[in-house]
Amino acid sequence: MERIGFAPTPPDDRKIDNFDLANIVRHMLETPHDPAASRYEHAAHGLRRRELDPDPIKQFSNWFTAAIEAGIRDVNAMSLATAGPDARPSVRVVLLKGFDQDGFVFFTNYQSEKGQQLQANPYAALAFYWIELDRQIRIKGEVEKTSREESERYFHLRPIGSQLGAWASRQTEVLDARRVLDARMAEMTERFAGKPIPLPPHWGGYRLTPQTMEFWQGRPDRLHDRFRYTRRADGSWLIERLAP
Ligand SMILES: Cc1cc2nc3c(=O)[nH]c(=O)nc-3n(C[C@H](O)[C@H](O)[C@H](O)COP(=O)(O)O)c2cc1C
Repeated sequence: MERIGFAPTPPDDRKIDNFDLANIVRHMLETPHDPAASRYEHAAHGLRRRELDPDPIKQFSNWFTAAIEAGIRDVNAMSLATAGPDARPSVRVVLLKGFDQDGFVFFTNYQSEKGQQLQANPYAALAFYWIELDRQIRIKGEVEKTSREESERYFHLRPIGSQLGAWASRQTEVLDARRVLDARMAEMTERFAGKPIPLPPHWGGYRLTPQTMEFWQGRPDRLHDRFRYTRRADGSWLIERLAP
């Protein structure tokens, strides 16, 4: 699949990593745009079956590129829903850091609420909403941890402060006061001063492999266009139009 973005072609053309997303965002900020114009254009045109790519990852890539070109801020912010053994859903925003034929990658603390829920129940759902284009994408599937090498590669692309922050913060634990966090950050800054910061054992990526993906285009009179891709056992995709 063709790699999206504005970075030079990488050796593995299926990977879209954080480095590319950083370049994309830079490009986006330098490109003049009129998001309102895009919204009306897409609403008028709608989404037609014959224009859909048979491959939902390519379709995602087309829409993601259009969202970047429309100058949408935090274009890679997505809602991530998980549920643990109590079957009660929990949702929060995380950043998409890469996607390709293998799935959608984000990074987090494995001991956080989401980490514990995914440990117990490795199924999750993602949702993107790009108001400027009046588009929503929903993705459901199974999640697995990225390899330690992949997590390490991304961890070291992060700013030093974020690397230290991953050591300092026990994400989702109750804190008595802000100063506890600040003290831990100071401790980690001293501990790793002048040394490479290793990948924390409790930190890394997850990859969600899509089972279904839905593309939603807002249209007038609430008669929106919706198409759902469902992965068949042989790996091909069933595409169905859904009522809005
Ligand atoms: C725009 C935005 C981006 C975020 N990106 C991430 C992220 O990539 N990884 C992450 O762990 N938390 C991210 N967060 C914080 C999460 O929303 C959440 O507070 C945190 O992961 C703890 O969630 P949990 O207690 O459900 O595990 C982001 C929040 C916002 C608003």
